[in-house]
Amino acid sequence: MGLKEATAELHSKAEKTQFSQLIFSGTIPEQEYAYYLFNMYHIHNALENKYELPHPSLNRCKSIEKDLGVLIKLKMDLTESTKKYIDYINTLTEEQWKAHIYVNYLAIVYGGQMIKSKVPGLGAYYVIDNMQECVGAIRAFLNDDMSDEANKGFQFNIDVLEDIWNTLRPNGVWELGNYESIAQTATAININPIGGNKAPINLGRL
Ligand code: HEM
Repeated sequence: MGLKEATAELHSKAEKTQFSQLIFSGTIPEQEYAYYLFNMYHIHNALENKYELPHPSLNRCKSIEKDLGVLIKLKMDLTESTKKYIDYINTLTEEQWKAHIYVNYLAIVYGGQMIKSKVPGLGAYYVIDNMQECVGAIRAFLNDDMSDEANKGFQFNIDVLEDIWNTLRPNGVWELGNYESIAQTATAININPIGGNKAPINLGRL
């Protein structure tokens, strides 16, 4: 069975999470989307620091920084599920890591193209230069033995999406008054990466 078939059930579950549906609806509030990107930033940062991506245009951290630069952000820590996923990423062998590149980068290539026009801000997260080359480079290093690890990657993503939803919408509704927002020009806050091999990053205005 190919990877796509082997992960189809969890792909469907990820697509149907309330948070995915919210992004896809085109009505996600700016701060809520910024919080999602903040969590994604740290997952990509962990993946990108661990081993070298198969194509330089896949790098997502710079794109997310552009997006976050124009969005109003929430002053909140990562979700517990995001921290767990990052800790897990830091334990991966290169072969295992490839399965997580499949899950997290082809998600942007495919689902992302349908979502790009529906999110607040620039949508830079979903813009990948040399798209066909990038897909080819990922596909070239995949094999069908990676399906268990890819399913783990999907499950971690589902946990993160559910955790973001439950954190921001404990009663199912968005209540901005519950959270402290930071405008673009607000004081800089240093965000230290959890794990990873590089020096701490500073997300500037985040
Ligand atoms: C609203 C949410 C989502 C939508 C609408 C969506 C949509 C799609 C579509 C249309 C494809 C192409 C399927 C095909 O070739 O027939 C795809 C592929 C894929 N998606 Fe999603 N997706 C969503 C969420 C996610 C999430 C959360 C992940 C994982 C983090 C993910 C990972 C993937 C992967 C890895 C593929 C490539 C499958 C393959 O060709 O091997 N998707 N998605």
